[in-house]
Amino acid sequence: MYKLVKNTNINNFCKVSKQVIGSVGGDVVDPFSLPEKPIQVPDLPLKLTPYSLSSGALKGQLFAQAGGIRGVAQVRHAHTDVQYPDFDYYRRKEVKDPTSNTRATEEYRKVTGYMMMAAGGLGAAYAAKNTVTKFVASMGAAADVLALAKIEVNLGEIPEGKNMTFKWRGKPLFVRHRTQDEIQKERAVNISNLRDPQADEDRAQKPEWLVLIGVCTHLGCVPLPGVGDYGGYFCPCHGSHYDASGRIRKGPAPLNLEVPPYEYTTDTTLVVG
Ligand code: FES
Repeated sequence: MYKLVKNTNINNFCKVSKQVIGSVGGDVVDPFSLPEKPIQVPDLPLKLTPYSLSSGALKGQLFAQAGGIRGVAQVRHAHTDVQYPDFDYYRRKEVKDPTSNTRATEEYRKVTGYMMMAAGGLGAAYAAKNTVTKFVASMGAAADVLALAKIEVNLGEIPEGKNMTFKWRGKPLFVRHRTQDEIQKERAVNISNLRDPQADEDRAQKPEWLVLIGVCTHLGCVPLPGVGDYGGYFCPCHGSHYDASGRIRKGPAPLNLEVPPYEYTTDTTLVVG
């Protein structure tokens, strides 16, 4: 047998084997013969792009079919028929010619890249600005809180000699329309005798209008307007007496009633805050 194989080619050996074994066990398949039905490889698309090639690969168009038990086990291409994708569709026209000098189109290609970078940078800067603005704004006071920060008072609604109470930043706000007698009386006070010395001129921008925070400086009660030994305010909690300038004149309170920041926007409009 060794001599037989050595002196003949493999096809002759198979023919001999088929003749010998066929008489014993029936028909024997020649493993080197081509299948009766030729392998059908679908046509590739005319336009070869990465997309079309990948689509074909999914459908098995690029792969040879494996033979059955009666045919060859595998068909291998010589790779001389492999077609490469055409990337011209994606290329700039300046670089399609392989013989052209790339330096000739260098500036054009750089400008395109720079423009894309600039556009991306602008977008990133705008997004960063919005993010920072929202973050900083979130730490500020809410709109409803800001609306309560100021209060506008129509002075024309307060008759002379009367005190009106408003609510400002959660506290009572006194606005008093003083009479000429009250003004003269308070401006004549010798401030050296006061517990918390303060001239009336320093407490009222306009003599006829007195603006105070209505919180007793002793323990925080709300004084009553128009009563007390000095005709100004009286705190019934522990008996503190304030004059018509809001200065402490008698009782346990240590300080004058506080004067809030305010301004006159018109002759009859007062804005506190
Ligand atoms: S709280 Fe006003 S006198 Fe004590």
